[in-house]
Amino acid sequence: MKKSGTVFFCQNCGFEASKWSGQCPACREWNTFAEEPAAPRTKGVTAGKKRSGKPKTEPVTLDAIDLKDGERTSTGMKELDQVLGGGIVPGSLVLVGGDPGIGKSTLLLQVCRNLAERLPKVLYISGEESLQQIRLRASRIGTFSDAMKLMCETCLADIEEVVLREAPQVVIIDSIQTMYQEEISSAPGSVSQVREATGVLMRLAKEQGISIFIVGHVTKEGTVAGPRVLEHMVDTVLYFEGDRHASYRILRGVKNRFGSTNEIGVFEMTEAGLREVANPSEYMLSGRPEGASGSVVACTMEGTRPMLLEVQALVCRTNFGLPRRTAAGIDYNRVNLLMAVLEKRLNLPLSSYDAYVNVAGGLRLNEPAMDLALVLAVISSYKDLPVSGKTIVFGEVGLSGEVRAVSMAQQRVQEARKLGFTRVILPQSSLEQVKNVEGIRLSGAATVRDALRMIV
Ligand code: TYD
Ligand code: MG
Repeated sequence: MKKSGTVFFCQNCGFEASKWSGQCPACREWNTFAEEPAAPRTKGVTAGKKRSGKPKTEPVTLDAIDLKDGERTSTGMKELDQVLGGGIVPGSLVLVGGDPGIGKSTLLLQVCRNLAERLPKVLYISGEESLQQIRLRASRIGTFSDAMKLMCETCLADIEEVVLREAPQVVIIDSIQTMYQEEISSAPGSVSQVREATGVLMRLAKEQGISIFIVGHVTKEGTVAGPRVLEHMVDTVLYFEGDRHASYRILRGVKNRFGSTNEIGVFEMTEAGLREVANPSEYMLSGRPEGASGSVVACTMEGTRPMLLEVQALVCRTNFGLPRRTAAGIDYNRVNLLMAVLEKRLNLPLSSYDAYVNVAGGLRLNEPAMDLALVLAVISSYKDLPVSGKTIVFGEVGLSGEVRAVSMAQQRVQEARKLGFTRVILPQSSLEQVKNVEGIRLSGAATVRDALRMIV
């Protein structure tokens, strides 16, 4: 029986329903409905008794608005500033999402340390760890100025009071899933708690001009746990991602009301916290086997940044009737598709060969510009024919074996030059986009067959 005054929320997408059901009609997830008390119904302004007094805000013209330029505060980390669009905007609410253990708390603690050196007051509120635990972590990161204050608290009303009293410039809330409001009887981390808590923090940020960072854990589907509602309430959404086993981390801007979302920042997790990686390509290519067959350097774009990385393939005769294919860091179906293209267009008998494809470094890519590198890596391994270690490859491959143009060819070629490569194999049709780059030999391929001729 449904208790009166309760509603059901899908814990995955935040869909609200008056009845329980097995499958959410909005996101089609199964068994995600949980019962939560309904919010008190608010009447429209015209419905109740007439409001007394004047409204607090009045419309203004655009010219009357002051543009407080240069008010952004640097976080002391160039990579993070870049993702934020040039620094922290006063009064902004930033959500930092990511898998547990990826380094969100570490990143924000480091941000606090840097900010405490240039701002009078920074407040770090943790609902997950004790003061001792944070102190331990902080001792690995470095020394902190007295401008940074710590607090362990999960009750939002108390947090609000402290923030109003202390009036810090920046507040960190770690994590939103641990915060609760007493008026709402559902558990912390539930849709209504998270949504209300974010609403309170949003108001606090806007009214007081405080920049607030909130940490949100991510579910296994890859969205911030519980509601996606959270994503559209905040000003900026950053995702911290990376392979648990690899030490690098990528901070990706998913939404930004104050800048472009095409930016990423690359970090490396070290003994003493996160370190910025200024040259990701160099980092990704370190330890590359030069002169081995099946290894090709490709260039992918992460936002507006070109990044070089190694694509590896291992092709060997299959022992069973059905060839085995695996793909790490690249779409499995794409690998199958490209192998089929090779089989048909170059008459390679790949259906009796196993193929294992891997993007070294643990990055996950889905840019079509990787196709040509993948194809050449497969051919290189199949024919046991090494591709020169000074060559990089990019281009999309179509179903008839044609090599298609990709965007930002010039930037990719420039990146190759920066890292000392001497030859670039690229789509014929991208050639005209590229001005001659000194020290680089450009080879335009119109088909996969052309590209193959270039590596033999
Ligand atoms: P953490 O910031 O606690 O992750 P999150 O808040 O996203 O859950 O990251 C903790 C991990 O980082 C943990 O596995 C230990 C590691 N780490 C380092 O390798 N070096 C360091 O200096 C610190 C502080 C943590
Ligand atoms: Mg944490």
